[in-house]
Amino acid sequence: MPDGRHVLDAILNERLGLDQASIGSGLVPRATRARMRATGLVEPAAYAELVARSEAELQALIDEVVVPESWFFRDVLPFAFLHGLAREGWTARPAREPLRVLSLPCAGGEEPFSIAVTLDEAGLGPGRSCIDAVDVSARRLEHARLGLYSLNALRGVGPDRVARWFRIRGENFEILQPVRDRVQFHLGNVLDAALLADVPKYDVIFCRNLLIYLARDARARAEANLERLLAPDGVVVIGHADTLGASAAGRAFVLAAARGAFAYRRRKPGEIPPPPLELALPAPPPSRPAAWPRQRSRASPAGRRPAPSRRRPAPRPSRLRIRGPCSNRRWSTRTRGGTAKRWPAASARPVARGLRRRSTP
Ligand SMILES: C[S@@+](CC[C@H](N)C(=O)[O-])C[C@H]1O[C@@H](n2cnc3c(N)ncnc32)[C@H](O)[C@@H]1O
Repeated sequence: MPDGRHVLDAILNERLGLDQASIGSGLVPRATRARMRATGLVEPAAYAELVARSEAELQALIDEVVVPESWFFRDVLPFAFLHGLAREGWTARPAREPLRVLSLPCAGGEEPFSIAVTLDEAGLGPGRSCIDAVDVSARRLEHARLGLYSLNALRGVGPDRVARWFRIRGENFEILQPVRDRVQFHLGNVLDAALLADVPKYDVIFCRNLLIYLARDARARAEANLERLLAPDGVVVIGHADTLGASAAGRAFVLAAARGAFAYRRRKPGEIPPPPLELALPAPPPSRPAAWPRQRSRASPAGRRPAPSRRRPAPRPSRLRIRGPCSNRRWSTRTRGGTAKRWPAASARPVARGLRRRSTP
């Protein structure tokens, strides 16, 4: 009988495609021990058997294994980029179809809610844009739907925005209901070839701080999905430590915005191929104030390439179901303009400097 640890590794590799070098060798054993304690099982083989037959336990293990860290307006510049794109491409063109944005992965909602605030500030109300948000962790999605955050999650937010978009709830901050209403959350897997298969394509996909954790073949599958989900003149925004280029789909993207936003568009026919995107750009300076406690990150240094790994079987189909206004429009009815070329970075406010907790009206 195969060793329980190997069975669990195989299951997690199939579902998440994690790169051991990026996540660290202790993460999965730690997560497994925590779940074994929670389920009262002492034998790894018995626990592996439970995970193999119970989707609920596999989900609980996934919740334990994923790297969940996120915060509002993380890295600032991607949101400044989105603000400029929304204003030039949509606010200035009122007859255009609504702007469609996907946050994948969305963690606890910090990123898609930042996107919602950005679009509102760019003059795009709910009727002119829609935001889908997907994560593989059911626990993170529960947190997102709750909409409650610690001060730590607001370290990228200026005081004006805190006052405008949050209200204090005990020790925490609650994102206001109109912002919450703009985001539709879904359980889903970036490796799933059927992910969001029945919805219109997205004009902007934020896929930040996930590719860094994936083994090369998993990254290739994720890139193929990003390419499939993106509108013809759409833009993919990745994190500063992420890289594209593990697949032909990934290599077909070129940098679309000024340094710092890490926004990529499809290469146009006849356009000179760029240098390999595997050569990651340097990380931008840290955006958090020095006085705040540093969070430990499990991400490896920028530009580090995951070790090649063997091809894994396709992931199990996700249980994703899409409903609501973001999904009931036909892709074929869309009208599209050209891609904007300049990205004003005017919307970024000073980051969290001088932030004090205060009551909101
Ligand atoms: C570090 S957070 C990044 C969140 C956000 N994009 C950001 O940049 O702040 C990584 C998230 O990826 C999610 N995740 C991990 N593997 C995934 C997969 N295969 N499909 C979808 N989400 C995944 C985790 O649950 C976690 O919430």
